[in-house]
Amino acid sequence: MVKFITLVGASLIFVGQGATQEAYEQYCATCHASAGRLARKLEGATAEEKGAKLGRFLETHQKLDPEVRAKLVDYLVGLSRP
Ligand code: HEC
Repeated sequence: MVKFITLVGASLIFVGQGATQEAYEQYCATCHASAGRLARKLEGATAEEKGAKLGRFLETHQKLDPEVRAKLVDYLVGLSRP
């Protein structure tokens, strides 16, 4: 049973990441081919700072649904971790 729950949890996380990557391809990849490269350029000392800064930047950079924007911020900040 525990194993089953773990498996379901893991696949939900996987599906979530896939959807975000798709959003990146759809909204960003036309101009920024590499998500990893963008992620490495994020400014800020901590993940929180990077996320806050990117979130503010994206408010004006592209017209995005706030939910999509939040997902993309999480995705890129996640990629920026060493
Ligand atoms: C129509 C082309 C285009 C699209 C689509 C686009 N960008 Fe950009 N982006 C640019 C250009 C040009 C710059 C550099 C000039 C500027 O700062 O606006 C830039 C700059 C940036 C920067 C600042 C760092 C840097 O490399 O200068 C970030 C972060 C960024 N974009 C993220 C994104 C994300 C995330 C998406 C998807 C939601 C996205 N962009 C979609 C064209 C685009």
